Amino acid sequence: MLPLPNRLLTLRELNIADAAWMALLHKECFTPLQCWTAESFHSLLLQPSNAGIVLITKDEPAGFILASHVADEGEILTLAVHPTQHRKGYGTLLVNSLIETRQKHGPEHHIQKLFLDVMENNHGAIALYRSLGFEVIAKREGYYQMPAGKKNMAALVMQKKLNEPQHIHIPN
Ligand SMILES: CC(C)(COP(=O)(O)OP(=O)(O)OC[C@H]1O[C@@H](n2cnc3c(N)ncnc32)[C@H](O)[C@@H]1OP(=O)(O)O)[C@@H](O)C(=O)NCCC(=O)NCCS
Repeated sequence: MLPLPNRLLTLRELNIADAAWMALLHKECFTPLQCWTAESFHSLLLQPSNAGIVLITKDEPAGFILASHVADEGEILTLAVHPTQHRKGYGTLLVNSLIETRQKHGPEHHIQKLFLDVMENNHGAIALYRSLGFEVIAKREGYYQMPAGKKNMAALVMQKKLNEPQHIHIPN
């Protein structure tokens, strides 16, 4: 566990025993068509290419991030912060911790590009990702299923490049 300066906050890596509460928290954060079941989380956590982090406040999970990692590319599969805990920097902390944890695994495991899909009308999440240096690189029309009678929503594909070489301007 990583104790944070604020002693009420703890970060730790997710494991399969977390699947049940992850589904409950996901349900608080997403619509019934977008939230995932405990079985889904269980099978996602069993895959060695997937890993995630939970942020705990006062002994309760306040949010988590789950991502996959193949070769030098990562993808944020989901990010959820409990509605009562929004705008406290927890989403930011989870994304940054995910990147930091991954890059600590040694250069051969480094992620060069981190991707994610976000619903095009999820302005809060898009603002969060933009603030962290993600850019929109593509749009997937009709990616998210909506309730009967409503048009499916597009996903924006966002990317953040990591380990970018520093461009140093050397004056003549
Ligand atoms: C998106 C989500 C993870 C953000 O978590 P959070 O802990 O509230 O985010 P942070 O506190 O780190 O926000 C950092 C910055 O992102 C932006 N931001 C976050 N939520 C925002 C919102 N609802 N509206 C506008 N900007 C927002 C702001 O710039 C914010 O900085 P500020 O609070 O100083 O203005 C959270 O709202 C959530 O779980 N939503 C439901 C699930 C979801 O949409 N997940 C993402 C799916 S891709």
